[in-house]
Amino acid sequence: MKLLHIDASPRTVRSITRRLSSGFVKSLRLKNGDLRVVHRDVGHHPPPFISDAWAGAAFAQAERNDPAMKGLLHQSDELAQEVLNCDALLIASPMHNFTISASLKAWIDHIVRADLTFKITEQGPVPLVHGKKALVVTSRGGYVAGTAYDFQEPYLRTILGFIGITDITFVHAEGVNSSDEEREKAITTASAQLLEIAKKW
Ligand SMILES: Cc1cc2nc3c(=O)[nH]c(=O)nc-3n(C[C@H](O)[C@H](O)[C@H](O)COP(=O)(O)O)c2cc1C
Repeated sequence: MKLLHIDASPRTVRSITRRLSSGFVKSLRLKNGDLRVVHRDVGHHPPPFISDAWAGAAFAQAERNDPAMKGLLHQSDELAQEVLNCDALLIASPMHNFTISASLKAWIDHIVRADLTFKITEQGPVPLVHGKKALVVTSRGGYVAGTAYDFQEPYLRTILGFIGITDITFVHAEGVNSSDEEREKAITTASAQLLEIAKKW
């Protein structure tokens, strides 16, 4: 199995999503001796925000073979190919201001690419990514299901679905900033859920 593992927290040792996602990879490794992991740490090494020139190149048609445009899209091509080449996607996503982190959004802007991961037809947009499953591990400080806004899970389901990834499982560690006890409880519950998922993957 080829796993693309995306970490999107700016934090390091205190990051709960990093702790949970690395635990999941360890569990998966025990089960799959031939597991191959591509790790993209967009939290610590975010891809650049897209620019005017980048958008021009990404949506150009015939001129896309222009060397300058190829150069502009080089990193985006690499990131999108990683999505196309994997069997499964693991995204560790901290909730920031009711949604995903800016670094994860920057990565999404690079991988949602016309004629690479989706295409526009006369009938509308059509996904070009097929046969992948995804696991999204989130951590949320104050949010507990139903108590505040969640633009994280609905957004990720929508944008991953837009390129063709619809088999998505979410595991949330919620209320992690309420107290030490609540944090440990949330981590323990999420870890147990991840262990069960690793057994089935
Ligand atoms: C800039 C920022 C914004 C945040 N916004 C929210 C929020 O809207 N809702 C929430 O429940 N927690 C929020 N939090 C708390 C984080 O979701 C929480 O600390 C979580 O554990 C982050 O994941 P990490 O531990 O992997 O970094 C925010 C944290 C930061 C740093």
